Amino acid sequence: MVIAIDGPAGSGKSTVAKILAEKLGYLYVDTGAMYRALTYKALKKGVDLENEDILTSLSRQTKILLKEKEGKLKVFVDGEEVTENIREESVTNSAFYIARAPSVRTEMVKQQREMAEERDLVMEGRDIGTVVFPGADLKVYLDASLKERAKRRFLELKEKGVKTDIKRIEAELKIRDEKDKSRKVAPLKVAGDAFVIDSTGMEIEEELNLILKKWREKYGTTKSRT
Ligand code: DC
Repeated sequence: MVIAIDGPAGSGKSTVAKILAEKLGYLYVDTGAMYRALTYKALKKGVDLENEDILTSLSRQTKILLKEKEGKLKVFVDGEEVTENIREESVTNSAFYIARAPSVRTEMVKQQREMAEERDLVMEGRDIGTVVFPGADLKVYLDASLKERAKRRFLELKEKGVKTDIKRIEAELKIRDEKDKSRKVAPLKVAGDAFVIDSTGMEIEEELNLILKKWREKYGTTKSRT
């Protein structure tokens, strides 16, 4: 079973996907973390982010591992734990170079599909319902207004003790939206058969209940391969 959750940056996909996976006993896969992990390595090595050939061989030579440990997702690149590093601003701002390279995406998609051979999953990203699993058992497109997404990010950072400006976050999210939606390969868009939720003004609980209701309508409570 595969539940695909797509949507723009800051739409709350990760939070929802994580809890959903926990409730259903499925594996949670954050595909953004995979693109971020490769970005981290590319920045560390100082490679030319505009050179697709270099990025292609880099992605082929890189082992990215997502591991669940005590309910938390840990990210490893070639054995090095980079869970925190991949959330740095430099990685966030450069990830689109990696995400727009067609051959890098081909490699990522291959790995993502392999994950579903072993486990039922909740996978979140930008192209899960459109490209990675066009036949997903449930597709959700989670959206929220730009203002709301900026507010959520702001509060998240504040909680971590990071001082920032909400207007700046809003401007950065807008740029990321444009990049995700306008790239040639696997742009962010709503899959025709996706269940669209505009979570503006909604609590997480409400979003989860909507998704679980949809899930039960389709499959009842127990459908699982494992
Ligand atoms: O969801 P995120 O912000 O952690 O994603 C990091 C980057 O990866 C962002 O530039 C969008 C891109 N991405 C993508 O192109 N396809 C995915 N399936 C997931 C993320």
